[in-house]
Amino acid sequence: MPTVSLSTAKPATAAADVLVLGIRTADDHEGLSALLALVGFTGEKNQVATLPSNGIVKADRVLAIALPEAPTAEDLRRAAGRAVRALKGVKSAAFALHPASVEEVAAIAEGIGLGAYTYTTYKSKNAKSKKDKPVELSKVAILSAFARQKAATKAVEDAAVVAEAVNAARDWVNTPPGDLRPPAFAQAIGGQAEAAGVKVSIWDEKRLAKENCGGILGVGQGSGAPPRLVKLTYSPAKPVTHLALVGKGITFDSGGLSIKPGASMQTMKCDMAGAAAIVAATIAIARLGLPVAVTAFACLAENMPSGTATRPGDVLSMRSGATVEVHNTDAEGRLVLADGLSLAGDAEPDHLIDVATLTGAAVVALGNYTSGVLGNDDAFAGQVLDAAKAAGESMWHLPITEEMKGLVNSSSIADLRQHNPKPAGGTLFAAAFLREFVPDGVPWAHLDIAGPAFNEGGASDYTPVGGTGASVRTLVKVAESLAG
Ligand code: BES
Ligand code: ZN
Ligand code: ZN
Repeated sequence: MPTVSLSTAKPATAAADVLVLGIRTADDHEGLSALLALVGFTGEKNQVATLPSNGIVKADRVLAIALPEAPTAEDLRRAAGRAVRALKGVKSAAFALHPASVEEVAAIAEGIGLGAYTYTTYKSKNAKSKKDKPVELSKVAILSAFARQKAATKAVEDAAVVAEAVNAARDWVNTPPGDLRPPAFAQAIGGQAEAAGVKVSIWDEKRLAKENCGGILGVGQGSGAPPRLVKLTYSPAKPVTHLALVGKGITFDSGGLSIKPGASMQTMKCDMAGAAAIVAATIAIARLGLPVAVTAFACLAENMPSGTATRPGDVLSMRSGATVEVHNTDAEGRLVLADGLSLAGDAEPDHLIDVATLTGAAVVALGNYTSGVLGNDDAFAGQVLDAAKAAGESMWHLPITEEMKGLVNSSSIADLRQHNPKPAGGTLFAAAFLREFVPDGVPWAHLDIAGPAFNEGGASDYTPVGGTGASVRTLVKVAESLAG
């Protein structure tokens, strides 16, 4: 990630290889209007153009980037990300995007850190084409009238912490699933969490059995790599509240015996994105020193078909004591989360959030850029939605209906039915199932990130191809808002 600093320099005098200049039609364009017209820059949405500065400004080159007349913080975050991606091969840049507040300075810094992300770990040296080269941008100055304010400096530092956390979650999601099976993922989480001063405890399959985690064990029993539960504890000196987080960490979802068709299996290394997000957020919250105690549970298993796999028709005995009749082994996320939610209940939190790439139905309902928010407390859901808005992530509230409660309780041989007998309302059914494991009286929100977690299309703005780190920024904002 580039090092980001603040500067009060004017765009015309900023010393950098490239001046990134946000263009709103009303601005004076630093005397570059004629050149902009010459390269065909009209200022239409998302337009980017590189031009020589011809000595009009100090930087040799200008990257003009179109902005709306009254950009929001998210507009600036996106513009900054788009600019960074257009600066391949450039070492230093000055960003003149006209932030109107410290919050907007932070958004620009975040967009820079997020837009600079590429995943090249598995590209061999020889194969690294120009396109695959990591961003070389090492120094960025954000030009702002707020540059001398302490709050702005802190906002830029905090933005780097958040961007690093999002990028860590992206790395984990992008790692090939054979290289990140539950034991390896648990080790990787442990290493990063400890480095951030967060306490780590890892349960192996024997401990999971001793603790009656039949959901996690049931999902993991078809794999040659056993499941794991990773518990993270961040304990600040004077916490104002206690937040518990639970994440779905299916390191690969083949569907199990209810096997997926090949095409839908292709991206299923992303099925641990919920666990990656809650871990990354916990690390960021700790590094930011927020006065919120966090207990996080990453529920890790590989969902594979084999002679030892759970069968449709089997009954699992869960950590909560409830029994669950399995109908479709591809609806595995709710089974590992159920045990995670019970364990979170034991920690007696004031608030509880789980994050999961849980249902294809959420993608059908909300598309690829919006996460579903469900839960047992409308006020808390509202707080999560507000945090998402402030973070620049798209989320939408969905209901848990009476209809679904009835269906969850409709198993003829066990306490609960795992899988909706009808395809309708799959996201709602899954949340109704999870609610059975949420401790009474604890405000709980469930984030279904199945759509936004993985970008199968091209990179855009600050969103790369592959893992996106969806929900990390929102979780950090929730902690900030709980901190008051
Ligand atoms: N991991 C999938 C959900 C998913 C789908 C995540 C697309 C990301 C993108 C989940 O485990 C699953 O397979 N769900 C099934 C549930 C069904 C069998 C009840 C689904 O949504 O089809
Ligand atoms: Zn599945
Ligand atoms: Zn899954």
